[in-house]
Amino acid sequence: MKKYFIANWKLYLTIAKSELLATRLLATEKTNARRDVEFIVAPSMLALSSVVTLLKRAKSKIKIAAQDCGFADEGAFTGAVSPNELKKMGASYVIIGHSERRQYFAEDAALISKKITAARAAGLKIIYCVGETKDERNVGRAQAVVKEQLRGFAKDVDVIAYEPRWAIGTGIAIEPAEAEQMHEYISREVGGALPICYGGSVSDKNIAAFTRLQHSSGVLVGFASTTLQAIVAMLQKI
Ligand code: PGA
Repeated sequence: MKKYFIANWKLYLTIAKSELLATRLLATEKTNARRDVEFIVAPSMLALSSVVTLLKRAKSKIKIAAQDCGFADEGAFTGAVSPNELKKMGASYVIIGHSERRQYFAEDAALISKKITAARAAGLKIIYCVGETKDERNVGRAQAVVKEQLRGFAKDVDVIAYEPRWAIGTGIAIEPAEAEQMHEYISREVGGALPICYGGSVSDKNIAAFTRLQHSSGVLVGFASTTLQAIVAMLQKI
């Protein structure tokens, strides 16, 4: 089955650095491309247009995801980003419900639902993120939290990214066996129908342990996806 390698560049790279990394990726694409891997890059919103242009010019197979989108395509929504324009610009996917959006931008289920509806209408595929906090895991509520986050959304999304919140950006990934337990749970919850990726401190050291899990369709990588060397090393082990 096809594996996903989703590189979430967050706000780590300037426009210039995003273009440089995209150019380097393209230069090595022939050597590193894997037919069994869907390689998706999510540049910052401001870098998205120029990265798309570079990929198109090179006829690259690398797909583009937006890191977020608005819930409307036009109107009085200051600062918002139209899902339809993202699609027209060349994005194939959009990440919705990332824990950083939930935490720093106060995104709740009602807003996420509107975004999912708008993104689907625009024809974007949706990478939907779920995951519990450390406290929630410690008190045995991890599955209940994820179940609640999936409620009503699973039928409308294309990829689930399970990202325990305490493992994101900390260098401390969850134990692969614990990830497998949650992936299996999610798989049961969604009727086995969706690819499930793991995210949270994935690196070239641990990627194989997560992609080898029975219920794993790949990884969503943040910090480690911002250098060429690390990407190449991870693609070799996926
Ligand atoms: P990280 O981020 O790999 O830097 O932990 C993962 C994510 O938030 O998608």
